[in-house]
Order: sequence, then structure tokens, then C-alpha cells
Amino acid sequence: MAADAKRTVADIMSRPVVTATPDETVSAAADRMRAQSVGSVVVVDGDRALGILTERDLVRLAAAGADPGTQVAAWMTAEPDHVAPDAEAGAAFASLAEHGYRHIPVVDDGRLVGIVSMRDLMRIAQIQPAESLAHEVPRGLEGVVVAETQIGDVRGLEGFYHYRQYNAVELAEIRTLEDVWYLLFHGDLPSSTQRDDFADEVRPLRMIPPAVKAALPEIARVANGAPPLDLLRTTVSLLGASLGYRPSLDVDHDELRAEALRVCAVVPTLLCALHRLQHGDTPIDPDPDLPYAANYLYMMLGEVPTPEHARAVEQYLISTIDHGFNASTFTARVITSTGADLAAAVVGAIGALSGPLHGGAPSRALQMLDEIGTIENADPWIRAAVERGDRLMGFGHRVYKVDDPRSVMLRSVAERLGGPKLDFAEQVEQLAVEILGELKPGRKLYTNVEFYAGIVMDACGVPRDMFTPTFASSRVIGWSAHVLEQAADNRLIRPSAHYAGPPPPQPVPSAA
Ligand SMILES: CC(C)(COP(=O)(O)OP(=O)(O)OC[C@H]1O[C@@H](n2cnc3c(N)ncnc32)[C@H](O)[C@@H]1OP(=O)(O)O)[C@@H](O)C(=O)NCCC(=O)NCCS
Repeated sequence: MAADAKRTVADIMSRPVVTATPDETVSAAADRMRAQSVGSVVVVDGDRALGILTERDLVRLAAAGADPGTQVAAWMTAEPDHVAPDAEAGAAFASLAEHGYRHIPVVDDGRLVGIVSMRDLMRIAQIQPAESLAHEVPRGLEGVVVAETQIGDVRGLEGFYHYRQYNAVELAEIRTLEDVWYLLFHGDLPSSTQRDDFADEVRPLRMIPPAVKAALPEIARVANGAPPLDLLRTTVSLLGASLGYRPSLDVDHDELRAEALRVCAVVPTLLCALHRLQHGDTPIDPDPDLPYAANYLYMMLGEVPTPEHARAVEQYLISTIDHGFNASTFTARVITSTGADLAAAVVGAIGALSGPLHGGAPSRALQMLDEIGTIENADPWIRAAVERGDRLMGFGHRVYKVDDPRSVMLRSVAERLGGPKLDFAEQVEQLAVEILGELKPGRKLYTNVEFYAGIVMDACGVPRDMFTPTFASSRVIGWSAHVLEQAADNRLIRPSAHYAGPPPPQPVPSAA
């Protein structure tokens, strides 16, 4: 078919339409449906569609124990939605898909002229992408809704995001990381008993299983200075294999939840152990008396942190647990949709997060501040970078076109902590936003989470090579919640691509 030959409803509708009248009995109409092998009859007055009676109505009638001798009018759906014969099939599907119809009358100028099934419309809508609809899907899937979730959402134009039913920034302001972790896994915040039980359940899971622990020095040695996130990727893979994680398709919710809890609990320990080994230090076991964030800093730096530092890092961690259908979360869900095991989903997600356009920016944002060096240098430096087509790290976001609420919160955390880089960062932020507004008008580029994340972590003593890993240690909770949700109501995620290569089939040349 030519690329511009869009199929209309008229091309695929069935006719003549099997009809019924409103005053005949349901049993007579049902007999006609069976005889003609159709799933519905359109109820007519002459050539005007008054209603539709479907197999579902027959089921409803039987379930209600009603008399099949009742008139069709009592059981039909009156004034059904209809579609015009010249409507483009893909567009008709898109506009009707939400309603759960199976058959739609085709009406032309008030006259019933055919009937079309949603299945046929869907078939056409799915065939079309290779030729036309695919062009309408924005590159990078921007704004495309690909799933339903109850875990959270991002409202980019409002500068708002939430976990379950709560504002994520408010959670970061007044709750602990463990509370928010519980919320993501269970759908609501814990009571005090649930909180204690959850802490008791998680605490022993922070320990690295002995076989994996024994392998860490060798992993760190062979990786030869590779970024800690790459080592984590390898180690989570090893962990899942050594603990015998099974395909998500084959395990029930409780087993998958237990696996998820274990991975989330042990990831910070693994990261800190790998980091220390890379620097020639001995790994430090988790301290059962310390809550999540304090324990994380303790295992990384070898000292119990001040409450201010522990709280600042905890707020950062809470604010990054989940964030809509970002690339790593989507990756985790795609992998889970294949039925693969939880470790596979987390390993894939770590890979996606490691990219500078996703999670790899906080250390680059600090690096940028270092390169700028002085406030006098900021204007020419930023201008030259943007004019060269470089990206300013820590600015811009796919979804937020106003201030990133995480950046606003982390700026206030950074202000609370103070530190030598803060003033400079705030001045650079202001200048950069102005220059981006001037050189990239209309693009609405502001700081994202990564800009102040670097400042906060730096002020708390987290080394730069641990910035993105720290992001991973909280985001694994979000990924896992999504894995649990995907597995609970799974359908393989398998989209299509628009083929743009040389036209096939070309003759296959024989081997030289
Ligand atoms: C986050 C990011 C990948 C989102 O990108 P996106 O939604 O694909 O945005 P686009 O690439 O379509 O950019 C739109 C325009 O804004 C510009 N832009 C986006 N982010 C920019 C940045 N940080 N610095 C300079 N220009 C930027 C692009 O050059 C583009 O300009 P153009 O229209 O002249 O081509 C992007 O803003 C970016 O690369 N930021 C820097 C890296 C970063 O901070 N990552 C952490 C994300 S949380």
C-alpha cells in the first residue's frame, strides 16, 4: 500500500448489517446472531440505528435470570456511538479505543450503512505504523503513554511529581526513606508497627551474601578502575544468579517481593564495598543500629555521619526514588514484561541509568562548575558552550518545562548545609538560565535534579564517583516497585519501528 493511502472505515466495515427491531424478543435476536455468526445486532427503525445489542448484553440478561422473551429495547444500548464511513481507520480506533466497545455502527448522514469491529480497526491501526502512524509517534517517545501505573507520576507543566497519592517533595521533607520505600511497595505509608516490622525485615537483608562478598575483590580488581555503577551492574547480575532468582513469570508476588526487598537492601552495601575495594580500603559491614542513609554514609566513608549530613542525603535519596516513566524505569518494565527475573530487570535499569543524559550528570555538573572556575568567567564560558551546541549539565528536562521540584528542594537542602560551592552554584544557575533563555528561546531550560544533587552530596562528603551510584541506590526501590506492578498485570512490551533502510526485498548476492 502507498504511504499516503490511509484506509477508511468504509474499506473495512461489514455489510449488510445484521439488524433487529426494538420490539422483537431478545431470544429471536440472539438466534439471528448465532445463525449469522456475529457478536452483535444493530437495533433499527428503518435505516436509522436506535441501539446495539451485543453478546455481552445476552450474558448480562442470563446472569440477571431475565426472561429471553423480553423485548430487545429493554436490553440494548440506546443511541450507540457510531463512526462515519470516511473516517480514517487508525484515527477511529484511537478515538473509540477507551470505551471498551467491540462493534461500532457505521452511520452516514443518519443512515446505517455498515458495522465495524474494534478488532478490525485495531488491526489496521497496528498495520499502519509501518507506513503512516509511526511518523506521528514523536522521536524518543516524548509524551507517549505506554502503560498504566499506580506508583506515581510527573506533571511537567506544573512542576509537580508524586509517589502514590503523596507529593514526593513533602515526603522528602517529613518522612524517612524507609517509610517511602514501604509506601512504594505497599501502596500506603506504614503505621508505627508496620514501620518496625519492615525495619526488622530489611535489616538482615543489607548483608552481602557470603559467596558474592567473596567475589567482590576479584570483580573490583578485574574491572580495573571502571565506574562503580558498572561494577554494581555485574554484581547484581551475580547476586541474582547466585541466589537462584527465577523468571518473574514463574514466581508469585510474595517471592518476587522478597527478591526485590533483598536487592534494594543490599545495593547500598554492595556499592560501598565496591567503592572501598577500588580505593584499596576494606569493606565495612552495615551497622544494624543505623537507619538507611546514615548507614549508607557510614559504609562508604567509614565514619558515622552527622545527623545533618545523613538527613540531607536521605532527602536526596527520597526525592530520586521514582520519577514517572524515565528511561531506566521503562527499561526495567520492558525486561520484566518478558518474564525475566528481577535481577535482569535491575541490571538493565542500571545500564540505562548510567548514561549521562539520564543519571550520569551530577558529577558532570560539578565538573562544569570547576571548569567555569570563577564568576567572571561564567558568562563567556556558558555562552561559548551553548553556541557550540554543548549541553549544560544539570539543565533541561524532558518533562519539566518549569523548575524541577527536586532541584528546588535540593537547592534549599544545599542552602541549609552551606559549603564553599553553594554561592557560586547559585550564581551560575541564574546566569545559565538567563543565557539559555536568550540563546534557546522557548525551550524552557531550568536546573534539573542533578545540578544541586552534586552540591548536596559534595557537601556531605560523598565522592564524585559515588554520585550516580547513590542515585542508583534509591532508584532501585522505584524500579523494583515497577517490576512488581508490571509482573502483577503483565503484557509483553513489544512496539514496532518504522523501517527506513533500502527497500526490500533486494536479491541476496551469493557469497564471493
Ligand atoms: C535532560 C535532557 C536529555 C532532555 O533532553 P530532551 O527532552 O531530549 O531535549 P532536546 O534534546 O529535545 O532539547 C531541546 C532543545 O533544548 C536544548 N537543550 C536541552 N538541554 C540543554 C542543556 N542542558 N544545555 C543546552 N541546551 C539544551 C537542545 O539543544 C535543544 O535545542 P534545539 O531545539 O536548538 O535543538 C537534556 O535537557 C540534556 O541533555 N540535559 C543535560 C544533561 C542532564 O542534565 N541530564 C540529567 C537529566 S535529569
